[in-house]
Amino acid sequence: MSLFITFEGIDGSGKSTQARLLAASLDARLTREPGGSPGAEEIRRLLVQGDAARWSAETEILLFTAARRDHLERTILPALRAGEVVVCDRFADSTRVYQGTRGTDGAGLRAKVDMLHAAMIGIEPDLTFIIDTDPATALARGQARGGAEDRFESLGLAFQQALRTGFLALAADHPDRLCVIDGNRPPEVIAQEVAQRARAALSGGSDGRT
Ligand code: ADP
Ligand code: TYD
Repeated sequence: MSLFITFEGIDGSGKSTQARLLAASLDARLTREPGGSPGAEEIRRLLVQGDAARWSAETEILLFTAARRDHLERTILPALRAGEVVVCDRFADSTRVYQGTRGTDGAGLRAKVDMLHAAMIGIEPDLTFIIDTDPATALARGQARGGAEDRFESLGLAFQQALRTGFLALAADHPDRLCVIDGNRPPEVIAQEVAQRARAALSGGSDGRT
């Protein structure tokens, strides 16, 4: 039975760790955004490297959506149509929250994200886990990781706190799809709760996506 599961949260929240553990336990297809297909991985480099001011929030929305469209066409839809479970590290909720939080015109930008999503992507996950971790802890973990992919982390703690608020508001708006998981616990404890909820969705969830 196909099922589309996504993980969301602020940078360093531990969502990639959880996506990896769940995909292994369900023998699912693991993928990520931005990226997940060769073309989208090229767009990823434009987005996560360089100065924070490199792109406006509006340009980011277009680039993330372009990457998502390629990922959807080449990776996600073929896997779902083949009956696989797809576990994706970030998806459209990241655009809603990150780009909605980043611009000066939050509500207007959010409407544009939703319009582009409806026109170009058109699907939502069956189940989304929001790994909710204390922003200071998460930021310290992300910074400890180092590397060149720090464009969003460079916006600092206040931005991470605003993102957390954004994810929790989104979860309150869509309680049927979004599930908030306390990320301030050891990885294996979180993984157990996540696996339990995913298995429940699999036994009662959707199937036969065409
Ligand atoms: P994200 O994908 O949200 O940026 P990662 O899963 O890559 O987060 O985790 C960031 C860092 O924190 C990694 O070094 C990882 O090993 C560590 N980590 C992940 N989950 C936990 C956890 N529950 N408790 C402590 N450290 C964690
Ligand atoms: P990711 O590799 O998941 O970063 P991290 O492991 O630090 O959480 O994502 C790269 C960055 O891109 C991350 O800071 C979040 C941001 N992002 C958006 O701003 N909008 C989006 O639509 C997506 C998918 C990611």
